[in-house]
Amino acid sequence: MEIKIKFNPPIATKSENIENMAEKANLKLMKKETIQPVSSPLSISKENKYQQLNDALGEAYQELDQLVGLEEVKKLLVEVQAFHEIQKRRAKAQLLSEPTVLHAIFKGNPGTGKTTVARLLGKMLKEMEILPKGHLVEVERADLVGEYIGHTAQKTREQIKKALGGILFIDEAYSLARGDNKDFGREAVEVLIKAMEDHKDNLVVILAGYNKEMDFFLNSNPGLKSRFPLHIDFPDYDTVELLEIADHMYQAKQYILNPNAKTNMEKVLLRLRKESPDTYGNARMVRNIVEASLRAQAVRLMHCPENTKDALMRIESEDVLAAISKMPKPSAENPVNDNIMPIRSAM
Ligand SMILES: Nc1ncnc2c1ncn2[C@@H]1O[C@H](COP(=O)(O)OP(=O)(O)OP(=O)(O)O)[C@@H](O)[C@H]1O
Ligand SMILES: [Mg+2]
Repeated sequence: MEIKIKFNPPIATKSENIENMAEKANLKLMKKETIQPVSSPLSISKENKYQQLNDALGEAYQELDQLVGLEEVKKLLVEVQAFHEIQKRRAKAQLLSEPTVLHAIFKGNPGTGKTTVARLLGKMLKEMEILPKGHLVEVERADLVGEYIGHTAQKTREQIKKALGGILFIDEAYSLARGDNKDFGREAVEVLIKAMEDHKDNLVVILAGYNKEMDFFLNSNPGLKSRFPLHIDFPDYDTVELLEIADHMYQAKQYILNPNAKTNMEKVLLRLRKESPDTYGNARMVRNIVEASLRAQAVRLMHCPENTKDALMRIESEDVLAAISKMPKPSAENPVNDNIMPIRSAM
């Protein structure tokens, strides 16, 4: 999966290779022999990859590493860490230091990992001491926009207050531009912009949503766009990545997907992609199939009086097929709704 990242100053030079950047920074500092090099997973050997990081940060990097694909996001977080560390060292050496501004736009279809990455980002920013708490407050239009004059500012400020010290993640942010000039969504945007100024060191705002709608929203708010230095695209996963995600999900739950069951899952994924290319390239669909297949396995095993450990772990083709037959068929209005028409035949 390819992730397009636009990463504007002040955080780093766009074209500079992250590994080089961290290494260059390390080299410069090592010459003085007064300050230790930056510990970033990309600048140290694989065996010691996480050893030099504090435990919680190491754990967060490991969690990030376990996500399938998302290579650019992974590199970006290392870059953020290196930049922040060096700014701290520059300040200590009484040099000018740049603030780490991390407001971001996450664009991508449902289920492509936006919330997952935002949550991890919060954890990491806390460990890097960029944010004091690093928690994620996930909101949507209804949490910010009120019904009468003054109500919106009050609701938006409440959510901002909850998010202080962490990340305010606004899902389907484009819906704030709905309607005409009188729509209260605009008021919410104004309150947000002010909060981003007032709480520069204490709040990260992420606007998330689908590509086309987000482009429209940002282009109609040029002042808003320029306040977000990070633009990250989350493309749909391809079938190989979706299968890898499924494997990870089974492993994490101590299940094993049988090779022939995996072949069946692949066939189904390919077919679903052809039928609904806009809605099916995502990891949430895989999670739904995985969870339904665990229930199908349980029903199958219930009929045997005793089960071996191996049997308790294995997911067979029939479990996957039973899971798929219960999958909801998405509609244009409701791309991943769980309560709609089942797909007729899996294969
Ligand atoms: N790269 C990945 N590797 C493993 N699992 C993933 C990956 N991306 C997403 N997932 C899993 O897929 C599910 C959906 O991901 P997530 O909620 O982050 O998507 P989203 O982009 O926020 O979707 P939405 O726009 O609908 O809110 C989660 O269970 C998450 O753990
Ligand atoms: Mg989400």
